[in-house]
Amino acid sequence: MIRLPLATESAPRQGPLLDTFGRVHNNLRISVTDRCNLRCTYCMPENVTFMNKRELLTFEEIARFVEIVAPLGIDKIRLTGGEPLLRRDLPRLVEMICRVPGIKDIGLTTNGITLAESARALFDAGLRRINVSLDALDPDRFRELARRDGVERVIAGILAAKKAGFEPVKINAVAIRGVSEFEVVPLARFAREHGLEVRFIEYMPIGADQWEREKVYFAHEILDQLETHVGSLVPAADQDPRAPAQDFDYTDGGGRVGIIASISRPFCLSCNRVRLTAEGKLRNCLFALNEIDLKPLLRNAGPPEEIAALVRQNIWEKWEGHEINTARFVKPDRTMHAIGG
Ligand code: 5AD
Ligand code: SF4
Repeated sequence: MIRLPLATESAPRQGPLLDTFGRVHNNLRISVTDRCNLRCTYCMPENVTFMNKRELLTFEEIARFVEIVAPLGIDKIRLTGGEPLLRRDLPRLVEMICRVPGIKDIGLTTNGITLAESARALFDAGLRRINVSLDALDPDRFRELARRDGVERVIAGILAAKKAGFEPVKINAVAIRGVSEFEVVPLARFAREHGLEVRFIEYMPIGADQWEREKVYFAHEILDQLETHVGSLVPAADQDPRAPAQDFDYTDGGGRVGIIASISRPFCLSCNRVRLTAEGKLRNCLFALNEIDLKPLLRNAGPPEEIAALVRQNIWEKWEGHEINTARFVKPDRTMHAIGG
């Protein structure tokens, strides 16, 4: 008879990166900096103390971590921030990660502000997938959300990424009632026009501002707007059941749109992600209240088996889900820019 390990026991010493809910983890999000050249209200405060640069993992330390976790089943990496393109020479890190055996897929999530200057170098380094965050096409609304100007630069970045050969280039837009809800239709039209996939994300309580449920512009409302003003949609036939985004195709063949319904349809039970912060803390959930500090081991040539065992245990202890929809929800101390989106 097969005996399943009990939740109270320690993590299995081999096999895939499992937790006690049976979720297998193959997806690592690495934040390379907490700095940003925007100040999106839903993400970070205007005045913020950034990490000391000496605290950030070096590229060598990040690559070492990837080498340790790839044999445990991590095959998908996404670089995030803060704004990852603020990290000098990022294409070098992309190259280093691409060389690690077992890594099949590497992506980048950027705000696009400086993407036009680096799209080509990133592509040449081996990066193939790019998500650009853009919540508003209207310059005033962009400024209201990002507390900085820059929508033209972001658009230039998106077009440069397309030109450099990235496929797909996806746009991530946070939908906030009364603010970016008015941008849903313009963004969807812009995406259709340029052969991009836009994904609308329900607003989550992870930033510095006062989150209220009333500000969440829900998936069904987004879909209603799209069907009324842009085109009729059908659920995508090749939908990946484990992906956070639910994909929809325009029935006229005009492309695809995604909805990340973090609040109205939480996808925690199919979560396959784990996160490494810029200063080397491992977090098994965006909303995790505990994290483990791997930097001392990564920095001082700690034994790989020890690092691997800590990763296994951290993932094993992952909770069921974020509980945003319950009274039990506790907002983490870190805001999004310091976690890695
Ligand atoms: N709710 C939803 N999405 C968020 N992001 C940042 N903060 C929030 C939030 N409070 C998104 C950004 C970006 C990605 C890194 O995370 O828009 O697309
Ligand atoms: Fe910067 Fe992205 Fe946070 Fe906006 S959401 S402040 S672009 S890290």
